[in-house]
Amino acid sequence: MADKQRATLADRFDQKVFDAIYSRALVYNTCWEDPAVDRQVLNIGADDRLLVITSAGCNVLDYVLLGPERIHAVDANPRQNALLELKLAGIRQLEFEDFFAAFGRGYHPRFEQLYRQELRAELTPFAQVFWDKRVRWFGSPNGSFYFHGLSGIVAKSFHAYLQFRPKLATSIRELFETRSLDDQRRIYDDRIQPLFWTPGVNWTLSRQFTMSMLGVPHPQRKEVQQQHERGVAGFVRESIEYVFRQLPVWTNYFWMVYLRGSYSEQCCPEYLKADNFAALKAGLVDRIELHTCTVAELLAEDERVFSKYVLLDHMDWMSSYHPEALAEEWALILKRARADARIIFRSAHAAPTYLESLEVGPRGTLLHDRLRFHPELAASLQPLDRVHTYAGFHIADVVA
Ligand SMILES: C[S@@+](CC[C@H](N)C(=O)[O-])C[C@H]1O[C@@H](n2cnc3c(N)ncnc32)[C@H](O)[C@@H]1O
Repeated sequence: MADKQRATLADRFDQKVFDAIYSRALVYNTCWEDPAVDRQVLNIGADDRLLVITSAGCNVLDYVLLGPERIHAVDANPRQNALLELKLAGIRQLEFEDFFAAFGRGYHPRFEQLYRQELRAELTPFAQVFWDKRVRWFGSPNGSFYFHGLSGIVAKSFHAYLQFRPKLATSIRELFETRSLDDQRRIYDDRIQPLFWTPGVNWTLSRQFTMSMLGVPHPQRKEVQQQHERGVAGFVRESIEYVFRQLPVWTNYFWMVYLRGSYSEQCCPEYLKADNFAALKAGLVDRIELHTCTVAELLAEDERVFSKYVLLDHMDWMSSYHPEALAEEWALILKRARADARIIFRSAHAAPTYLESLEVGPRGTLLHDRLRFHPELAASLQPLDRVHTYAGFHIADVVA
């Protein structure tokens, strides 16, 4: 049977697994995209109306701190919006200490009581049903909310693995306690790198199942595999080596929460800092509107005009499965764009080929002719990206 046929059978199976787990689960328990980089290109102002894909909602809460007129948080997965709903209810109803215990440390001994008495009434019926069954995710003293959801299960599995690797566990703990890049590099080079990259770890990272749990469908994994001579494990290794050797780990809350299961008050998303929490509670949260639908459905819904779009890496998902829907979505993005609108997105592709030939609108205009990309600006910011697992960061302005 030709490789192609065998490949498609395997792909179809991987796709079924991905759809099965994705359509039933909360995938992202924290946003895996760096808003500090986004802020530098979005230049959010008081007259901005943003469309942002929710994911775990951390970045929606980050951008609203800059006081835009409105943020429309949209996600096709209702569980992602249910997580943002719970955070918004927590900001409105809880004191900072209780909120930080739940969403900073991932554990609050009385969260179930707070949920029933203070938060549940603020939620939509879907979110109530979802959290009624899962409020215990915040209630286990040896666990953490960040060990739940699909990406959380991968973090939890890694923690279980570290129980059998005490020397590696100690080195990772000490890595996060360093406050100098030299110390960080020494610990990574001498005590983590030699112990971590075992054949077992490389094998696990190159499994589609692991990537599916991390929200990476097989076309996206294949793109990474094709771009890197040592495949997915090689790409992940390169990202981790860059993050732990080139960027200060003590401000990297993305890798800290997965490697430690919690944030700290010094190393956490902006919405978890006391003064920002107060600003959100004082009214900024009221500028956030949630939509459980696709980006295209929201844009087709009404006449709203958007000045900024934050599309994460969702187009990688669509490009392989629903290319026609991608063209429709871009046509609507342009139709609803303010003349000076800016669009940012990430991708496993350094240069997404799926955008090159995309035609939009009744006259089949090439999308590329309607956008001005800023590859130099993107390239200058990529080195600062604390997540560092996207080959492509794309900044585009709408051309009238
Ligand atoms: C690829 S993930 C991005 C996750 C992001 N990289 C992160 O880590 O925070 C895509 C997110 O977009 C949502 N999504 C995918 N396609 C969508 C669409 N067409 N419209 C709205 N949301 C979509 C998914 O539910 C998921 O939350």
